[in-house]
Amino acid sequence: MTPKYTVERVKSGIPGFDELIEGGFPRGTTVLVTGPTGSGKTTFGVQFVYKGVELYDEPGVIVTLEERAQDIRKEMLAFGWDLEKYEREGKIAIVDGVSSVVGLPSEEQYVLEGNLNPEDFLRYIYRVVKAIDAKRLVIDSIPSIAFRLREESKIREVLLQLNTILLEMGVTSILTTEAADPAHGRISRYGMEEYIARGVVLLDFVEKDVELKRYLLIRKMRETSHSMKKYPFEINDRGVVVYPSGELY
Ligand SMILES: Nc1ncnc2c1ncn2[C@@H]1O[C@H](COP(=O)(O)OP(=O)(O)OP(=O)(O)O)[C@@H](O)[C@H]1O
Ligand SMILES: [Mg+2]
Repeated sequence: MTPKYTVERVKSGIPGFDELIEGGFPRGTTVLVTGPTGSGKTTFGVQFVYKGVELYDEPGVIVTLEERAQDIRKEMLAFGWDLEKYEREGKIAIVDGVSSVVGLPSEEQYVLEGNLNPEDFLRYIYRVVKAIDAKRLVIDSIPSIAFRLREESKIREVLLQLNTILLEMGVTSILTTEAADPAHGRISRYGMEEYIARGVVLLDFVEKDVELKRYLLIRKMRETSHSMKKYPFEINDRGVVVYPSGELY
């Protein structure tokens, strides 16, 4: 008999989402979450880490390169997510990658320096993941890593290295990137992030009557059978909630 190969699944903590991907992300995978501004990328990523601690006791790291750590903490309180509590318990680490860029002093425990050199960046992420024995990671966002590299063209190289390091550490990761109109144009900012990631989740809007409706599409998820349907989702007071049997049109 050939042994059956089963993939260990990591539950996302996003209501309605896991049943679309055979129960969760393959453990250790790297998933790109892409979409236009306001589509919910940051919320999706932080929810994955926060719920990881709250529901599954898996420590997680949030690398924030667009918003200051203190702003993220405040915003997420609106969903009832008290990041600070888990930070104190050593279960969540927020890496502040913004303060030094805008020239503000940071009182954060984990701070990235202003001028990123790829090796230092990767080494730092590695250290923080090890420090709290993280099983989950979100990096928000890839374009803001790229902007901070002295040569933006190095981004491909850095992402390849980052991906290898993440796979090596076995941490399940979400990387966010931007795409203005992912359903019709490029699905990522640099047009190559999707090749490096093992999964791609697209968050977008569609116009219905005079309103914009949110939808989610799983463009790729290795080791997983998934449909290519657009599923409606909401951001409400619980964060991102997906409706697997909801109708979009
Ligand atoms: N407490 C809340 N209740 C309901 N909806 C909310 C709440 N907080 C935020 N939202 C919705 O979520 C959107 C922001 O989501 P988020 O910041 O995750 O998007 P993003 O894709 O990361 O955006 P950006 O490209 O600007 O970083 C808001 O524009 C708003 O529509
Ligand atoms: Mg964001």
